[in-house]
Amino acid sequence: MSVAVNTRPEAKPGILDITAYQPGKAKVDGVENPVKLSSNENILGSSEQAREAFKAAVDTLHIYPDSRATVLREAVARHFDLEPERLVFGDGTDEVLHLINQVFLEPGDNIVMGQYGFGAYAIGARACQAEVREAPEPDHRISVDEVLKRVDERTRLIFITQPANPTGTFTTRDELAALHAALPPRVTLVLDGAYAEFADDPRFTDGLELARTAENVIVTRTFSKLHGLAALRIGWAYCPAHIADALDRIRAPFNTSIAAQNAAVASLADTEFQERSRQHVLYWRPWLAQQLGGLGLDIVPSQANFVLIGFPKTPGHTAKEAESFLARRGWIVRGVANYGLPDHLRITIGLEEHNRAVVDALTEFMGR
Ligand SMILES: Cc1ncc(COP(=O)(O)O)c(C=O)c1O
Repeated sequence: MSVAVNTRPEAKPGILDITAYQPGKAKVDGVENPVKLSSNENILGSSEQAREAFKAAVDTLHIYPDSRATVLREAVARHFDLEPERLVFGDGTDEVLHLINQVFLEPGDNIVMGQYGFGAYAIGARACQAEVREAPEPDHRISVDEVLKRVDERTRLIFITQPANPTGTFTTRDELAALHAALPPRVTLVLDGAYAEFADDPRFTDGLELARTAENVIVTRTFSKLHGLAALRIGWAYCPAHIADALDRIRAPFNTSIAAQNAAVASLADTEFQERSRQHVLYWRPWLAQQLGGLGLDIVPSQANFVLIGFPKTPGHTAKEAESFLARRGWIVRGVANYGLPDHLRITIGLEEHNRAVVDALTEFMGR
């Protein structure tokens, strides 16, 4: 009888079935200084005060950061009127999402997310040997019914992005309330608000109100988008106290740096920069949607700092060809075939000159 013997260490089952996260491209061969509209970064940069705070941290390089991020914790709690002890800080929301998966998922458990949901949820769940259930999103929106149909006794987490990436759509306050009301209390509803500040629809909610009193709701937020601090990696979760306690037990103790904590505090105080960033998106988002819609492209209504655009399947006018056409002209946008959207491109709202140039380029592309 032969017994299979490993000749080298093997990853545990499932790990090598995971497709690694694909970040937005930043380079195009043969094009110098292309403009990156592929990662939903803040096109205005970051707050001057945050930059100063970052520079000032140079004298602290030899010191471990405050593991509890006390000053930042107090600042976020004040800004959003939350209880400081219910906040958990991470190395970007990305780490917080991993911690949530690790705290709740055993092999054989499952998570439910939208079919176009953000890729990181599934990666973290699969790393815990959990099953990922994707609920169909008719019209690129979460359907509460479709989510609920997939909940069973092994469901531990539901991930809703509010508003969603890559679609830009959102789940209304009433829909979220209905979803939450229908969930068994042992299921945790995670509302990822990476783009929440850019939403202006009166039916939108960032979920913090629901999270204040519910025992099974977590809201995550980030400094990467509105604050333009993506490089510094600060995300946070507002959780029920018992969940914050669990997450903190497995969190790496020094997961957010001194420079990042201090810059985030300074950025939070710079409400002028936040408002300018928000207003920029609120002005150019409908403009881009209207202009691109006028070219006959299919615009998915967005509440985020990007728009998702559907292209025809006709050769010469496909999303893939449009992506290359734009790239050759120095505009890097995001192909989203890996999200099951091969006919769409996601474009971050740029500066005025970027937005106008992208519209001009796509006008030429569609007119060919
Ligand atoms: C929906 C969503 N959640 C979370 C993240 C990650 O954010 P962070 O930079 O805080 O890790 C992103 C980043 O693109 C995102 O789009």
